[in-house]
Amino acid sequence: MWNKESLHKLIQSKLSNYNLIVVANREPYIHRHVDEEIECQRPASGMASALDPIMRACGGTWVGHGGGDADRETVDERDRVRVPPEDPTYTLRRVWLSKKEEEGYYHGLSNEGLWPLCHVVFTRPVFELKHWEMYKKVNKKFADAVIEEAGDVPTFVFIQDYHFALMPRMLKQMNPNLIVAQFWHIPWPNRETFQAFPWKEELLDGLLGNDLLGFHLRYHCQNFLDTVDRGIEAMVNQEQSEVTRGGKTTLVRPFPISIDFESHEKRAKSAEVDDKIRKFNRYFKPGKRLVGVGIERIDYTKGIPERLRAVDRMLEKNPEYVDKFIFIQVGVPSRGHIDAYKKIDDEIDRIVEEVNWKWGTETWKPIHYAKRHFSTEEMMALHRMAHFFIVSSLHDGMNLVSKEYVASRFDGDGMLILSSFAGASRELSDAILVNPFSIDELADAIRQAIETPEEERRKRMQKLRAAVAENNIYRWAGKIISALLKFDFPESM
Ligand code: G6P
Repeated sequence: MWNKESLHKLIQSKLSNYNLIVVANREPYIHRHVDEEIECQRPASGMASALDPIMRACGGTWVGHGGGDADRETVDERDRVRVPPEDPTYTLRRVWLSKKEEEGYYHGLSNEGLWPLCHVVFTRPVFELKHWEMYKKVNKKFADAVIEEAGDVPTFVFIQDYHFALMPRMLKQMNPNLIVAQFWHIPWPNRETFQAFPWKEELLDGLLGNDLLGFHLRYHCQNFLDTVDRGIEAMVNQEQSEVTRGGKTTLVRPFPISIDFESHEKRAKSAEVDDKIRKFNRYFKPGKRLVGVGIERIDYTKGIPERLRAVDRMLEKNPEYVDKFIFIQVGVPSRGHIDAYKKIDDEIDRIVEEVNWKWGTETWKPIHYAKRHFSTEEMMALHRMAHFFIVSSLHDGMNLVSKEYVASRFDGDGMLILSSFAGASRELSDAILVNPFSIDELADAIRQAIETPEEERRKRMQKLRAAVAENNIYRWAGKIISALLKFDFPESM
């Protein structure tokens, strides 16, 4: 079983002579001005929360976009700051972007183009040449920062996500001695869907600069291999799951990502979380009513309207549950410049208003919607309060929120309702699995979750917890690092 110590051991015995650089658009710690003070916040990003414990264990450097309004004030003259603030163990190197760069590369190509293209949830992707040009420019900007950080020490570069599809090839051209891996945290669509991407050859060529390319699921690896097979001149070896282009081979492998189960559980037991539970009990006043919870960024892939409509349908079908439960939905504002996000934000507001108007009494309303950033402890408090927890993503690479809920339930109780279109459903098959497009199915799942007897709830939760404890983030990192160690640095280094 992998844990922090075994990963440490692997790193110390095998990686100590090398540099490790992680590149991710989102930084793990953001400095913001709050009430005339500088506050250090953790972003709402499954990717960032998964990578942080690994970086703590490995040291090394995280190259990310300095997006906080106090970020410039907190770095040294080389744009670096040591993190985590309470116990610095690794370096965050911030890259600055102009508004125009952020618009084209982040909002435009990454989030209006690749995000909907890969998720396939009936939100039409937008492809604009000027966004693509900016995407290329920013990929180069980050690549320059990586090259500078690497110097001439043997270096592993581990790139995260769809923001940097062109970077692997750029890095290899600038410094062929680097060993480069990338993890694609979102789904990879089937090859027909990918055909719609106007610059597909360039994008695939960029990704094939990697020595190792990881996805959550074998299914996504297969989609990628099929896309390459049809989309670009390269040799695809299905059996070995690898692609060779221009004499260079890229291994394509599944690595299901996870969380730091042990430290998450420990934190969920803390007095600070107990305090937050007391605070939320005063604020939401559930009293004797059952509590349902959903927590995510406000994103059209997460199926938030579907789940709120399911609360409504559940009450229609089972009026005996009026005034018997409350559903707390946390929506963390996200990517608000993009039209599709403004639309989903408005839609959620409207549904909350409608459903509460329809069912609310003087002393009760079914939905409590909290639209703001939540701290880790606050989220853990809600996990612990939740008799049932809903993750109804219309499509999701993995979904770590579902794993976090399970890890917070050290009391062994609670029911998870989980979309079968989230990668996590492959491991968490003891949840109530649902098709979130079917409001009736979701409504019935809520009823089932409420009515499941304690003994069965505990049995299911025990299995869920065992799955997350075993397939933890250290296992994910250990497997990737072990795969990377099979590549040799050139003799001359
Ligand atoms: C997904 C992506 C991450 C991203 C996160 C939050 O989980 O895979 O790369 O960080 O969403 O999105 P944001 O755009 O706020 O970073």
